[in-house]
Amino acid sequence: MTGRMADKVAIVTGGASGIGRSCCLRFSEEGAQVVVADINLERAAAVADEITQAGGQATSVAVDTSIPEEVDAMANAAVEAFGRLDACVAAAGISHAGYISREPDQQAAQDRHDRQDMLLIEKSLANWQRVIDVNLTGVMLTNQSVAKQMVASGGGSIVNIASVAGRTALMGASDYCVSKAGVWMLTKCGAIELARHGIRVNAVGPGYIRTSMSGAATSNEKWVDERVKETPLRRLGEPSDIANACLYLCSDEASFVTGEIIFPDGGLIADSRA
Ligand SMILES: NC(=O)c1ccc[n+]([C@@H]2O[C@H](COP(=O)([O-])OP(=O)(O)OC[C@H]3O[C@@H](n4cnc5c(N)ncnc54)[C@H](O)[C@@H]3O)[C@@H](O)[C@H]2O)c1
Repeated sequence: MTGRMADKVAIVTGGASGIGRSCCLRFSEEGAQVVVADINLERAAAVADEITQAGGQATSVAVDTSIPEEVDAMANAAVEAFGRLDACVAAAGISHAGYISREPDQQAAQDRHDRQDMLLIEKSLANWQRVIDVNLTGVMLTNQSVAKQMVASGGGSIVNIASVAGRTALMGASDYCVSKAGVWMLTKCGAIELARHGIRVNAVGPGYIRTSMSGAATSNEKWVDERVKETPLRRLGEPSDIANACLYLCSDEASFVTGEIIFPDGGLIADSRA
C-alpha cells in the first residue's frame, strides 16, 4: 500500500457519521486499514462496506465510548483484525441537544432558541452528565485503551476532536463547552505522559461543520447566513476539512507535533486566539 497512512492501522470512534466517517474514508484513501467504531453498528458497517468496495481494508465495531469494557474491546478488536494499532481519532460525541451559537444580540438568540432548560440555571444533572460521559470521559477511556495497544505496537498518534466551543463560551451549552475544554486539556496531559512511549496526542477543534449533529441548525438558512457572516472565510466547514487536519496529525508528517490543537474553523475564533 502507498499513501500518507500506508501500513498504518487506525481506529475512528464516531466513524459512522459526519467527521468520523470522513476520517475513515480519507485515511483509507491514504492506505490505512480502518476500524470504524460507533454506537450505531449498522451505520458503521455501511462505512466499512463503502471502504472495502472501493478497494480498501476496513472492519466495523460496536462501542459505546462511555463504557470502559466496550472501549477496551474495541481496541482489542483492532489488533485482532489487523495485528497492530497506529492511529486513533476520537470523534464520537453528542451535542447539548441544540446548537445555540455565539450571537451578537443575546436577546435575539434567546428568543430564537427559547430553551430555558439548556441554560445553566435550569440544566438537568442527567443532561449534563451524559454530555460529560460521552464527550469527555469517553475520550479519556478511548485514549487509555488505544494507548495500551499502541505501546505494544511501538508508538502511535491519537487525535481528539474538541471544538471551538472548548475555547469560546456558547449560550446554553455549558456542558458541551466544558466537555470540549476538558478534551483540550486531556490532550495536553496525554501528550506529556505518552511521549515516552512514542505516542503523540493532539486535538482538532472544528468550527461550524455540516454534519447530522449540526443538521437542525444548518437546515435553517437564517442561521447559516449568520454563521457565514461571522466566519472570515465566509463558509461553513465540511467534514473533509476536519478529516484533512486529522490525517496530517496521524501521519508521519506531524512526527514532531504533540500536545497541539488545530482549529479548522475558517478563522471564526482568530480574534480571540492567544
Ligand atoms: N458538526 C460540528 O459543527 C462540530 C463542531 C465542533 C466539534 N464537533 C465534534 O465533532 C465530533 C463528531 O461530530 P459530528 O459533527 O460528525 O456529528 P455526527 O452526529 O455526524 O457524528 C457523531 C457520531 O458519534 C456517534 N456516537 C455518539 N455517541 C456515541 C457513543 N457514546 N459511543 C460511540 N459512538 C457515539 C454517533 O452515532 C455518530 O455516528 C463530535 O465530537 C462533535 O462534538 C462537531
